[in-house]
Amino acid sequence: MSHYEKQEEKRSLPFFGIGKILPYMKKYSFMLIIMVFFGLLSTGIDLIVPQFQRYALNHFISLKTLDTLPWFILGYLVIIGLMGFLNYFSCAYAMQTEVSMNRDLRDAAFNHLQTLSFSYFNQNSVGYIHARVISDTSRIGSLASWTLMDATWHMSYLVGSVVVMLMVNTKLALLVITILPLVVLLFSLFQGKLIRINREVRELNSKITSNFNEGITGAKTIKTLVIEDKMVNDFVNDTNAMRKKSMRVAHLRGMFSTTLNIASSLALAIVLWRGGYIAESEVGTFSMFMSYAQGMMEPVRWLIDAISELITTQVNIERFSRLMETKSDVMDSPEVIEKYGDTFDPKRENWEPIKGDIEFCDVDFKYPDGDEYVLENFNLKIPFGSNIAIVGETGAGKSTLVNLVCRFFEPTRGQVLIDGRDARERSQLWLHSAIGYVLQTPHLFSGTIRENLLYGNPNATEEQINEALKLVSAEEVVARMEKGLDSDVGEGGDMLSTGEKQLISFARAILADPRILVLDEATASVDTITEQKIQNAIETIINGRTSLVIAHRLSTIKNADLILVVKDGKIIERGRHEELLKARGHYYSLYTRQYEDEATSSLFTAQ
Ligand SMILES: Nc1ncnc2c1ncn2[C@@H]1O[C@H](COP(=O)(O)OP(=O)(O)O)[C@@H](O)[C@H]1O
Ligand SMILES: [Mg+2]
Repeated sequence: MSHYEKQEEKRSLPFFGIGKILPYMKKYSFMLIIMVFFGLLSTGIDLIVPQFQRYALNHFISLKTLDTLPWFILGYLVIIGLMGFLNYFSCAYAMQTEVSMNRDLRDAAFNHLQTLSFSYFNQNSVGYIHARVISDTSRIGSLASWTLMDATWHMSYLVGSVVVMLMVNTKLALLVITILPLVVLLFSLFQGKLIRINREVRELNSKITSNFNEGITGAKTIKTLVIEDKMVNDFVNDTNAMRKKSMRVAHLRGMFSTTLNIASSLALAIVLWRGGYIAESEVGTFSMFMSYAQGMMEPVRWLIDAISELITTQVNIERFSRLMETKSDVMDSPEVIEKYGDTFDPKRENWEPIKGDIEFCDVDFKYPDGDEYVLENFNLKIPFGSNIAIVGETGAGKSTLVNLVCRFFEPTRGQVLIDGRDARERSQLWLHSAIGYVLQTPHLFSGTIRENLLYGNPNATEEQINEALKLVSAEEVVARMEKGLDSDVGEGGDMLSTGEKQLISFARAILADPRILVLDEATASVDTITEQKIQNAIETIINGRTSLVIAHRLSTIKNADLILVVKDGKIIERGRHEELLKARGHYYSLYTRQYEDEATSSLFTAQ
């Protein structure tokens, strides 16, 4: 379990978590109040309709006269028209609140995500985050609008019908109402069970969803491992369990619904039995009572559905509010934000220009989720403008080093100094705006190549773009594409090969013109010929900048000012290429081994 999940694994919220969404509803309180008010009025009219029925029966039928018929029809039309009007407006308001709240919640979630650090995205899957931003917010939005609307309608109808009955015929009304405690009792009996099963269904559901996500995102891996069988079996087991539970819910609901029907028939029976004494001329009153007695059960039926819905939505609320409460591992202090601003209000005027001096002072570092220290008592001084190469086996701690330089993580103890001051004394944005970072797994945004390049520098001219592309030999990639710079790269740049993506992200980093350039195995996915081209480009662009190059192929770092050989989080050798070769140590053996490998593989490709 990641420490983010630990942050998330907390309580079930009281009152279905509604308290958490109240702040988002506040902005729409006026609209919601109008909505509820119109809803109440419309229920009021709903309650008047049986009175018309009563009048018609008592007057026109029993007394056999049509004298007031035109007025009756007019009144009825007015009432129905008014109801239509009220329903229209309350629904329109509910809809407006729903979409506006959806937007607010999504904006809030998205904005909050921007403030979270690198490590959050390392540890939470895209599917998980996506669900928080899209589906949780939409369920919450509909709860705040439609469920509130329905609650107004149903509950006011229940109360209203009781009041009207009491007013018309107290004795009979009291008799009919005796059914209600019985219904409440039944309700609480079923409710307990339903809540429990609903929770189980909900857990199964989230398991199924996550398996489903894995099935899709990992489809290629599943196919190559030929474990479709196992995946399908697991999935089928879960969906079967889900089916059973859902059947059980349906069964319980059916039972409840039937008992409600019985209760409502009982209410009717009471009306028939005790209402018999009502005079023949009052047959309308009698029929009106029957309408109310039946109508009364509808809100109860709704309530049971609403509670199931609240239970499911509660999860959405919990997850959403947890996301909103998740704190980033790396945060700027209030003083820093005060001076340097934050993501949404960067106070660039206060930013000092960055030279690019980097220094590790007695750094101990352990990943938030790791048990072991990756770096211990690590010291390193990188004067600005120097070109550092870092080599070492997989897992040695190379990426960790540059992650600390970029402040994607912070030292557990000790300091990373940028231009002589602790990186934490200035904002992340300040630092990141001066760092160009090319990763082994490059990411492009969906859109065109041009758009992607402009992320590096929104003001870049056509000339600068072409120059950057040329510098990294990416102009061929662009030339090959049908629409050149305006070709679509697909979601995450997936219409390009990894190597091509790398070239483009390289050009993007160059356009940003950063003081510090970090290349983490940036050329691992390009062929040797392209790598050579990029190598030449690197030599040009690292001039005058501080650069940290994690080299995949050692032949590419011969000219580095300093080569660091890292093993188990420690620098075991340092020096220039020739010095290290002469020393015949770890670097030497790494180099000769790779040299032989390359010689062999080029032998193969030559044939
Ligand atoms: N996000 C992470 N959480 C926990 N441990 C990590 C994380 N990233 C890397 N590590 C661990 O830190 C060590 C160094 O990893 P890394 O710096 O990525 O190595 P390199 O880049 O040299 O291959 C490894 O033992 C790895 O398991
Ligand atoms: Mg690495």
